[in-house]
Amino acid sequence: MALYSEKVMDHFRNPRNVGVIEDANGIGEVGNAKCGDIMKMYLKIEDDIIQDVKFETFGCGSAIASSSMATEMIKGQPVSEAMKLTNKAVAEALDGLPDYKMHCSVLAEEAIKNALDDYNKRKAE
Ligand code: FES
Repeated sequence: MALYSEKVMDHFRNPRNVGVIEDANGIGEVGNAKCGDIMKMYLKIEDDIIQDVKFETFGCGSAIASSSMATEMIKGQPVSEAMKLTNKAVAEALDGLPDYKMHCSVLAEEAIKNALDDYNKRKAE
């Protein structure tokens, strides 16, 4: 079996939603101290619906594929649904990641949660 699924390779080669949202109202940044990879998520939320999402990932192929897939999964979703996104769901949507690459999908989950926390904080202000 190939190490990476077709879906992982596709999202790695043609990542969706790469970039920056200038007027984002939720931004989350996380890093993995062990591998040194960094991921930044930008959310544009209106009426508690994620209208747009973009990411920048300075990291491995699995981290890029995970962030690309994760952005596709939460776009158009209500905040409450996006909060439930798990790294396992992201990895499953990618048709699996090798065990030692699962932590890369954790970065995507954490970056989105951080961005949603940021949105909630700004809303409360
Ligand atoms: Fe660091 Fe993949 S090796 S996120």
